[in-house]
Amino acid sequence: MSGVPGKRREGALSENFAGLHGAGGWPTVAGMNDVMIETTDLHRSYTIGRKSIEVLHGIDLCIRRGERVFLCGPSGAGKTTLLYTLAGLEHPERGSVKIDGVDLYGMRRKEQAGFRNARIGYVFQNYHLLPELTALENVAVPGAIAGRDSTELALKALERVGLSDRTDHLPAELSGGEQQRVAIARAIVNEPKVLFADEPTGNLDSKNSAEIMKILMDLATEHGVTLVVVTHDQNLAKVGGRTLIIRDGSIHAAE
Ligand SMILES: Nc1ncnc2c1ncn2[C@@H]1O[C@H](COP(=O)(O)OP(=O)(O)OP(=O)(O)O)[C@@H](O)[C@H]1O
Ligand SMILES: [Mg+2]
Repeated sequence: MSGVPGKRREGALSENFAGLHGAGGWPTVAGMNDVMIETTDLHRSYTIGRKSIEVLHGIDLCIRRGERVFLCGPSGAGKTTLLYTLAGLEHPERGSVKIDGVDLYGMRRKEQAGFRNARIGYVFQNYHLLPELTALENVAVPGAIAGRDSTELALKALERVGLSDRTDHLPAELSGGEQQRVAIARAIVNEPKVLFADEPTGNLDSKNSAEIMKILMDLATEHGVTLVVVTHDQNLAKVGGRTLIIRDGSIHAAE
């Protein structure tokens, strides 16, 4: 399958938004040793004209339940592509992704949306907030899609990211860092079991960045959420976790 230039992000968002967040629930955590995310021989390339770029070149990855993984690598290396593929938002050309033992791309589209809805939270690199909705409404959207009023949960999630005093602001009335925190609140509002975050601290100063990382780390510690966080900052991994580097289409352990 070759990619359509400029289409990936928007198409994936509109098609899959409903499936991104849902009633995952944070029950007690099973053993920490079982596998939560497993990929086998993942391949993905994009073709533009006659030129083909191989972004993922046979990625084999195993991430345990409750593990925190930091994904680093140069710009354009394929971090977002890998995250999309792990989250069910970008079909690989070859290979498989299993989340909690279930083959993500072996399901029908509707089943897959339901599965994502129940287990996966995703923080997009560029937030993807709905511009005409307030911060509170944006965070409440996933619940609304699932047919329930999640205003209380949305308020709690906004409080968790320190934005209780901005609930009525539209995205355009928020700073970049605040929009980023709203996006995080939206991703965690339904208590996912797996959280993918694409540069969640990219626009934050060091104090806010540390706060956001603490929120994400606490999700792993307190609720056993499996975290995969894309970051350019390898120092972040010092808060505890495994750092992987993506380079030339392959994954390497950090030195
Ligand atoms: N829809 C598309 N069509 C063609 N090429 C694409 C498409 N999406 C991404 N690419 C290319 O795939 C490569 C990997 O892109 P990706 O967004 O995964 O990189 P990244 O590691 O997340 O970069 P950054 O750190 O800048 O966010 C890039 O070279 C990019 O130009
Ligand atoms: Mg990216």
